[in-house]
Amino acid sequence: MIISEQFESMRRQFEEVFGGCEPGWAVCAPGRINLIGEHTDYNGFPVLPMAIGRAVRMLVAPRRDGTVLLRNADSRWGPREFSLGRRIPPFASGDWGNYAKAAAQSLARLAADRGMELSGMLCFVSGDIPVEAGLSSSTALVVATALALAQVNQLEVEPEELAERMAEAEHYVGTRGGGMDQAVCLLAEPNRAVKVDFFPLRARRVDFPSEHCVVAAHSTVCAKKTGHRRRAYNLRVLECCTGVHILARRLGISPPERLAGLCEEASPERLRELTGLLREATGGRESLTLERTAELCGLEPDQYVEEVVSNAGLDRPPEALHALPRCRHVFSEAARTEEAAERLERGEVEEVGRLMDESHRSCARDYAISCRELDRLVEIMREAGALGARLTGAGFGGFAIGLARAGRVSAIRRALTERFYHSERKETEGHVFAFRPAAGAAVESLK
Ligand code: GLA
Repeated sequence: MIISEQFESMRRQFEEVFGGCEPGWAVCAPGRINLIGEHTDYNGFPVLPMAIGRAVRMLVAPRRDGTVLLRNADSRWGPREFSLGRRIPPFASGDWGNYAKAAAQSLARLAADRGMELSGMLCFVSGDIPVEAGLSSSTALVVATALALAQVNQLEVEPEELAERMAEAEHYVGTRGGGMDQAVCLLAEPNRAVKVDFFPLRARRVDFPSEHCVVAAHSTVCAKKTGHRRRAYNLRVLECCTGVHILARRLGISPPERLAGLCEEASPERLRELTGLLREATGGRESLTLERTAELCGLEPDQYVEEVVSNAGLDRPPEALHALPRCRHVFSEAARTEEAAERLERGEVEEVGRLMDESHRSCARDYAISCRELDRLVEIMREAGALGARLTGAGFGGFAIGLARAGRVSAIRRALTERFYHSERKETEGHVFAFRPAAGAAVESLK
């Protein structure tokens, strides 16, 4: 049952903006936080996220033609309209309508492969996930659009398949993301985190302890998915890919698609061994020129740019690359994520907290995705009684999370207000939340 008060007021707005037309379905797609497993997904290693009780909501009615009309309750996002097809040209970079187009183009292709042509729809969108904050509001919009379009066209797609397709589909906006956000959005369940493995996607729900919750605090640093953050993200993808090439050469094998392809079994020993091999290959150098990096991959610089750099969605090659620290993070994070899922399953919450602390250190030092504000939030949450704390999502701003007993939440909130938000001259309101795992995306008929 997803129809709530929010949908009631949306229904009135829907009828107003679409000239008295009545919506046929309500769609709800949640945001997420990731407990652990950061930047592991596109490398083929697992993640452990959970859905949160904040979502993108959509009311939908079918249209006869192939046009999608989007209206947003928030006036910052103006009306958008586009035609469905196998190739949908994007709006300007950063436009909110591109997330809907990403989903639509992917489903139009799926439908065409099944010999169908999609009809369009009227959509009224509303939501309460903080935007550009790393809580996956954009993926929630992608998933909501996909579910809406599939529903109005009676196009049947299993949630796992839809999750994989939407992960790929989101590359439309230019970020070479992995599949975590789409998977948890579609496959989450209340009171459970989701351990997700990739290629192929497999989800295992893990009970979340009943007396605990996750405090999430906004660093107030914008974590937009476009512009220089997109480049910073894609650069990490490239550095990991580079690690694949260097290690494959060392191992005398042809390079697999991603880091996980270098180990049949991702045991902690094997993961440590791979880091050791990379350290040997790079002579322990954390930063290498492009020329030296290409050489270690066994490629000419031009070849490296053509074959490796352009695949990561970068328009121009970087001057320096950091394959060693980036892969060291990914390998150690993969081991921590496996361990955290097992510990959570056994109710060993304090150990999960310890692993989250280690994850933050590795994200900050080796992956270089933290910032002063995130480090500060993490420190305050720990000092105020969180069992562990870390940044969550892509990083470079956005939210930090702390795992805590429910009874500690008000003390943590107070500490954050006094020691972070006051000194940054910001409001606590709208920046701090306490989450328990929420349900995944759903569609409900209004008839
Ligand atoms: C973003 C991406 C995810 C994942 C995280 C980092 O949220 O969309 O696929 O890579 O960053 O863990």
